Amino acid sequence: MKADILLGLQWGDEGKGKIVDVLAPQYDIITRFQGGPNAGHTIEFDNKKFILHTIPSGIFNKNTINVIGNGVIIDPFVFNKELEKLESSQISVDKNLLISKKAHLILPTHRLLDAMYEHNKGKAKIGSTLKGIGPTYTDKTARLGIRIGNIERNDFYKKYKELKEKHLQIIKSFDFDYNTQKIEGLTLDEYEQKWFDAIEIIKPIQKIDSEYYINQSLNNNKKVLAEGAQGTMLDVDFGTYPFVTSSNTVAAAVCTGLGIAPSKIGEVYGIFKAYCTRVGSGPFPTELDNEEGQKLRDEGREYGSTTGRPRRCGWVDLAALKYAVMLNGVTKLCMTKADVLNTFKTIKAGANYDFGGKLIDYIPFEASYENLNPVYKEVQGWNCNTTELKKADDMPAELTAYVKFIEQEIKVPVAMVSVGPDRSQLITL
Ligand code: GDP
Ligand code: IMO
Ligand code: MG
Repeated sequence: MKADILLGLQWGDEGKGKIVDVLAPQYDIITRFQGGPNAGHTIEFDNKKFILHTIPSGIFNKNTINVIGNGVIIDPFVFNKELEKLESSQISVDKNLLISKKAHLILPTHRLLDAMYEHNKGKAKIGSTLKGIGPTYTDKTARLGIRIGNIERNDFYKKYKELKEKHLQIIKSFDFDYNTQKIEGLTLDEYEQKWFDAIEIIKPIQKIDSEYYINQSLNNNKKVLAEGAQGTMLDVDFGTYPFVTSSNTVAAAVCTGLGIAPSKIGEVYGIFKAYCTRVGSGPFPTELDNEEGQKLRDEGREYGSTTGRPRRCGWVDLAALKYAVMLNGVTKLCMTKADVLNTFKTIKAGANYDFGGKLIDYIPFEASYENLNPVYKEVQGWNCNTTELKKADDMPAELTAYVKFIEQEIKVPVAMVSVGPDRSQLITL
């Protein structure tokens, strides 16, 4: 068997959690391969809503094993909060959650460093979720990090103290007053205490050499779906650098984040909103800083799942989508939040960019620093309620036409259209 991938094609929050949850019954294993608690994946069913940050979105399906891969970084404090929320809804993870021993730990002081670096950037701040992502991946590549497998070893506390000291030295050298800095509303000492309590909670969870586990599962014809976090335009290499996250978010990261060969990749589901959002700073050519943008925010309830921040909203950006499809080798598209456009008379899509008077449909290096002005194509809205639709045949003609238009532009078929946050609100094409 080959592993399938589902990942975001825009700036995150495309609805990955919802679609992974829908697909979960078709898979034996759902696995995260990168990112950490900067992710917020929302799943709704039976009038209940869950937001997952570290745990894969297959956790609500009893028969699916969920693996947190080696490419993921874990904050025990956040992870424990997730567990508590699941347990309070009688969702047990005892049998179907496994963690890679090679996944790195986010230390309390990684979070302080994140806050300090953002603070020091002033107006140029990334708009980080401040979950410690950048500093933790930095330590990983600097070969200083501490991994999940280290928790059980005798020298764990010694390693922890050494790394914490290094971090505090850096913080002091920047003259950053960490004593007044709160992490999730707690002082460093308070947070550290809860972090170590959470380490005890992680201890009984099964930890594995996940690269062997995933490869053996594929060899045994098990179906594996790799769940992306963030989105392609936040990729550390190909996103709108430096306004990106600190991991590779593209399909290639599945190979390093799980330890599987490129030849083991099957379908690549690319997921995008029928419009576009971004949270945090950085270029967003099709952003609507006007009433229409506000309408998208209101109708789409566009407020961050992890931070609660209002998301910036705009039209779909076809050039950026084509770029994402190219980078990821997307074989099937999934368009979410079509229902959010139910009351728009007309819908626009950025087709090209005007870049210094030249019409282009690619994203040049200079786009990080200079303006790309989108040139729009406009299609008719459908002006009806789509939230109850179950079948492609019942879709209003204008929605079908919008889907066809996107397929023609992107040259990849749309396999699913999502028309609401609930698990049941999905049309398979
Ligand atoms: P993720 O990070 O990609 O998993 O996406 P988020 O959960 O951060 O954000 C997507 C938001 O849109 C969540 O609040 C979902 O419940 C919601 N959502 C997902 N699909 C749809 C849809 O088709 N229509 C509407 N209206 N909401 C959706
Ligand atoms: P999901 O998986 C949307 C954004 C942040 C910030 C930048 C860097 O829910 O789609 P970081 O915390 O990684 O240092 O932040 O990336 N960002 C996301 N935006 N969805 C996410 O994840 C995100 N994870 C990070 O807002 O602009
Ligand atoms: Mg999200």
